[in-house]
Amino acid sequence: MNTVIMAFPGNEILAEAIRRGINGEEGKTTIRYFPDGESYVRILTDVKAKEVIVVCSLDRPDNKILPLFFLCKKLKEGEAQRITLIAPYLAYMRQDKSFAPGEAVTSVHFASLLSSFVDRLITIDPHLHRHHAMEEIYSIPCTVLHAADHISKWIKLNVSNPVLIGPDSESEQWVSSVAKNADAPFIIFEKERLGDREVKISDSLVRTYKNFTPVLVDDIISTAQTMIESISHLKKNGFKPVCIGVHGIFCDESYQQLMSAGSLHVVTCNTILHPTNQIDINELFVKSLQENTGVPHQKNLLKYND
Ligand code: R5P
Repeated sequence: MNTVIMAFPGNEILAEAIRRGINGEEGKTTIRYFPDGESYVRILTDVKAKEVIVVCSLDRPDNKILPLFFLCKKLKEGEAQRITLIAPYLAYMRQDKSFAPGEAVTSVHFASLLSSFVDRLITIDPHLHRHHAMEEIYSIPCTVLHAADHISKWIKLNVSNPVLIGPDSESEQWVSSVAKNADAPFIIFEKERLGDREVKISDSLVRTYKNFTPVLVDDIISTAQTMIESISHLKKNGFKPVCIGVHGIFCDESYQQLMSAGSLHVVTCNTILHPTNQIDINELFVKSLQENTGVPHQKNLLKYND
């Protein structure tokens, strides 16, 4: 079966790296907004009887989900055999509970929506917390990939004597496996969220790691308040940390705020396009697709900054 790789606008670099990796066909589209904000979607490649892989990172999802829906509907009308969505960042995983009466559990509804028009989903480190597995909320086959090994390699190459720090209990799952592969100790801070843009951090252990370089690792940097509060706590104890996020959403001015908060370095994986992308995860997708389709490995993968 031929495989077509389609980049949702903004995902061209990663889609091209994946396309080269599996030797797929480039899928051409026109996706844009009309002046009134409605979406225009046109498919310019024959997809009949082909597997179509749509690459669309789902940060800032509300503007993307409707054109993505139209695209997938049109792919089905064009008789695509199967639609796989590669969403390097998967949105709406954090509202996994009704915290206040009347609140919608959007993780469940978003999962049900995506499952209704995509046949298969591949993503990296989704925020699984109160939902323990994707199957609890998604009704399509899902493959969850992990950036931990790539982050560990980056730390080993770039940080001397690291101690890894998770800013909250949820981060322990990522931090512990990154620490294991980086041969480094780790500690977990305690976080209390006081509002959308306000958190409080506490810990009692970090001052015992005097001659270490702290490396804060979290799955998501959104308002960056979690990182900023953690940095402030570390600064009080005489440390200047490296900050690593798997997914750098960086709302509004948060990147600038994080830079001026006193971190040594801010680094993210290229699941969402951003100047901090230093950890290239495209080979995770290539390997996963090869395992699923038996496509032979291509040498000389395109690097993210090519
Ligand atoms: C939450 O539990 C996540 O793991 C992150 O800690 C959180 O999303 C970071 O958000 P922010 O950058 O807005 O503090």
